[in-house]
Amino acid sequence: MSDLPKPGEPIIEVRDLKKVFGTQTVLDGLNLDIVRGETLVVMGGSGCGKSTFLRMLIGSFPPTEGTISLLGSRIDQLDEEGLNEVRKHFGILFQSGALFQSMTLAQNVALPLEEHTDLDPTIIDIQVKIKLELVGLREHADKLPAQISGGMKKRAGLARALALDPLILFYDEPSAGLDPVTSAEIDQLIVDLTKKLGVTSVVVTHEMDSAFTIADRMVMLDKGRALRIGTRDEFDELRHVGEDRIADLTEDEQLIRQFLRGEPVGPITRRREETNYAEDLLQTAAPIITPSPAVEATRRRG
Ligand SMILES: Nc1ncnc2c1ncn2[C@@H]1O[C@H](COP(=O)(O)OP(=O)(O)OP(=O)(O)O)[C@@H](O)[C@H]1O
Ligand SMILES: [Mg+2]
Repeated sequence: MSDLPKPGEPIIEVRDLKKVFGTQTVLDGLNLDIVRGETLVVMGGSGCGKSTFLRMLIGSFPPTEGTISLLGSRIDQLDEEGLNEVRKHFGILFQSGALFQSMTLAQNVALPLEEHTDLDPTIIDIQVKIKLELVGLREHADKLPAQISGGMKKRAGLARALALDPLILFYDEPSAGLDPVTSAEIDQLIVDLTKKLGVTSVVVTHEMDSAFTIADRMVMLDKGRALRIGTRDEFDELRHVGEDRIADLTEDEQLIRQFLRGEPVGPITRRREETNYAEDLLQTAAPIITPSPAVEATRRRG
């Protein structure tokens, strides 16, 4: 790790990334650079492949095609041992927080330190206190996950993700299922940590308030590709284009604008109506047009 990228230089490089599950192409030639020290928000419709993309970045899913370089290592080519070495340098906060239920918060945060370092137990204790303090949970260190709220679980998960002083943090829907105030607190925590610790963050979120609070840059995924990558201000401008100017936007821009505003009418809904509806109709119609002998027999009997 001697030749770390400087702030502003790429720390993750994704090239022509493709992921196919069975007959379904989820990612279809995704290209993206994530630069050191930035918070990149990943957006896109439900099922478009955001979580899959995160899993590929952390080496849990191999790409079908394409390459991922993270901290100078080709994640897609590493064996388990190599992956574990790189994994020490990033933290992950998944939707549930994924804490071990039978362990206290302090024990949960200590675990990565015990597994990945040779630190003395007293030093680990100090590290754990620092990490719990960072997320505002030091006085709850001895509680079990079942004894704390959903927001606190998220924060505890974050403390654990921070245990090894990661260079990169991955978040999947960090504020899902939280009330608006707790959600805003988590956002603030992400912003503070990024500033205090200089980490690079990749955040998948559906919450637009959250996205616009934490992002330096944003990427909109659509049909397996990056439809638009831009600064928060560029996306904010698109979000605020008035009705009278929609006609000046490209189809892609209109689609992004609809997504950012959460509006019920626009290219996203039009596309759904055109494709899925027609496919649905054809599928439903198929047995009626060519009934199987069994169906025919039942019909005649009825
Ligand atoms: N292990 C897997 N095996 C087969 N298909 C999968 C697997 N993981 C994900 N998929 C499929 O890939 C597509 C993308 O899933 P993914 O979870 O990445 O979406 P997402 O963008 O995170 O959605 P959401 O916003 O709802 O969380 C889905 O159609 C899903 O069914
Ligand atoms: Mg997801």
